[in-house]
Amino acid sequence: MSTQTVRLLTGTRMPLIGLGTWKSSPGQVRQAVEVAIDNGYRLIDCAYMYQNEDEVGAGINSRIQKGVVKREDMFVVTKLWGTFHAPEDVKPGLLKSLDSLKLDYVDLYLMHSPMGFKKTESLATQPEYSDVDYVTTWKAMEKLVDEGLVKTIGVSNFNTSQLERLMSLANIKPVVNQVELHPYLMQPKLVQYCKSKGIILMAYSPFGSPDRPFQRTDQDPVSLLENPVINEIANKYGKTAAQVLLRLHVQRNIVVIPKSATPSRIVQNAEVFDFNLAEEDIKKLEGLNRNWRAVKWEVGHPPHKFYPFNED
Ligand SMILES: NC(=O)c1ccc[n+]([C@@H]2O[C@H](COP(=O)([O-])OP(=O)(O)OC[C@H]3O[C@@H](n4cnc5c(N)ncnc54)[C@H](OP(=O)(O)O)[C@@H]3O)[C@@H](O)[C@H]2O)c1
Repeated sequence: MSTQTVRLLTGTRMPLIGLGTWKSSPGQVRQAVEVAIDNGYRLIDCAYMYQNEDEVGAGINSRIQKGVVKREDMFVVTKLWGTFHAPEDVKPGLLKSLDSLKLDYVDLYLMHSPMGFKKTESLATQPEYSDVDYVTTWKAMEKLVDEGLVKTIGVSNFNTSQLERLMSLANIKPVVNQVELHPYLMQPKLVQYCKSKGIILMAYSPFGSPDRPFQRTDQDPVSLLENPVINEIANKYGKTAAQVLLRLHVQRNIVVIPKSATPSRIVQNAEVFDFNLAEEDIKKLEGLNRNWRAVKWEVGHPPHKFYPFNED
């Protein structure tokens, strides 16, 4: 696998393909991480919320100990969960992830969403909203950079207005906005805004998250992986639909983090640097846009005051 990279605002380089780890269950995810690293992946996308960081860390550390990679060759991303948005909770939130991952630092720390929640003992319960301003949370995240616990900081699930506000008040600009992106949700306005500011986009759920827990089969469009237009394009290039969905992003310098716990798919998902989608095929993929979200972040009603998906 060729490890193509993109340049962050700080000058650091970040791989264009990484392994997603949401829903990768204990007992599976360590092997998935090991297979990924053995096959050239250097970016792993984690989160406190995924409740599997100890196994993800075991996978990363086993490959460091075996000499397959050095820590500095890896680009580890994790995320601050909403229950840690109060400024005094931000560092403890990060330390929980570092402790599980058994790492001294992460390469990129993301605010998982602009929405803060009240502290809870368990992640299983429905969170109650807190009204901590995400800018206040961000200021506490900036200190983690100064302390050397995180190399860079960014956000996830921010809309354009929220990013604009954050950019106007931040001392350290966010290097990344991690959002859902695929042909059914192209988000051209948000993509254009991020590009204009040098904020790198990370595309999550590139296959429409077919294994997500909250499916609405009565309302959902045909799965991206089964979509006839995408499969026709895949046949033209001798690639799979999954590879076309990933190529769409890397060809535009958007980082993408497909999740798989299946070794053959982990390998397949990295093989996207040996073909180029023609402009006409990109247009066809863009033409599938229908503003459909797999991950709606509907955590309660009425929506949180910082609910990001009412615009863009
Ligand atoms: N920041 C956020 O709020 C946020 C939200 C959602 C996701 N994410 C991140 O983005 C990552 C990816 O998104 P996602 O997990 O929602 O979904 P996804 O990557 O769109 O889809 C994962 C599903 O696709 C299957 N799959 C993987 N490769 C395949 C291939 N080549 N052919 C056919 N099927 C394939 C996987 O099956 P197997 O595992 O069985 O192979 C799994 O069922 C997450 O894991 C997480 O790291 C972030």
